[in-house]
Amino acid sequence: MNIKGKKVLLRAIEPQDLAQLQQWANDPEIQSGLGGWHFPSSSEDQRKWYASLSLGSINQRFALETPDHGLIGTANIVDIDWKNGNAFHGLMLGDKEIRGKGYGLDAVMTIMRYAFEELGLHRLDGSMIEYNEASLGLYIGKCGWKEEGRQRDWYFRKGRHWDRILVGVTAADHKELVVTTKYWAS
Ligand SMILES: CC(C)(COP(=O)(O)OP(=O)(O)OC[C@H]1O[C@@H](n2cnc3c(N)ncnc32)[C@H](O)[C@@H]1OP(=O)(O)O)[C@@H](O)C(=O)NCCC(=O)NCCS
Repeated sequence: MNIKGKKVLLRAIEPQDLAQLQQWANDPEIQSGLGGWHFPSSSEDQRKWYASLSLGSINQRFALETPDHGLIGTANIVDIDWKNGNAFHGLMLGDKEIRGKGYGLDAVMTIMRYAFEELGLHRLDGSMIEYNEASLGLYIGKCGWKEEGRQRDWYFRKGRHWDRILVGVTAADHKELVVTTKYWAS
């Protein structure tokens, strides 16, 4: 079942998305903001990655789509721990031209609503490189997430080490945010 936000749709990743995902996987600007890392990625790497995706419910990976732009990025909820009710969430908007238009905000609001109101999770975890101001502004500034810790010198990028900021949001934080912002009312 697809998951609908106000601006974005979360749907399954399809084989025809792989060429675009490979382009983003090889884009240094996009990858510099992300915590993950890989060497230059071939179309064969992409196919193997796609084939390895589990149909199980522990890892959920979505394509982000808008009516105007088609595929704009990906979002995931992974390492779901059903007993404790927690999971890790990550997000990437691929096309730089579509940033700053509220799609990131809508994607995170939609992921949280799905995680807390459909999956029944209790909290989500995330992490970001200390220089990723867009991400910190989005999650902490707008979406009710809290900084919960810092792992010093965790990443090595651009010739030096950077802290890894651990962030999280609980179902209660989310409930309060939705009431305060009335995000889904308009
Ligand atoms: C981080 C990212 C998801 C933001 O998405 P976006 O669609 O551009 O953001 P939105 O337009 O929804 O902005 C929502 C809020 O996020 C914050 N924000 C967005 N871009 C920002 C920037 N460059 N600097 C500081 N804050 C920023 C602002 O608070 C903004 O609210 P405002 O417009 O009222 O000021 C996007 O830039 C991205 O995918 N970057 C590359 C990959 C990445 O860093 N992923 C996250 C890894 S944890």
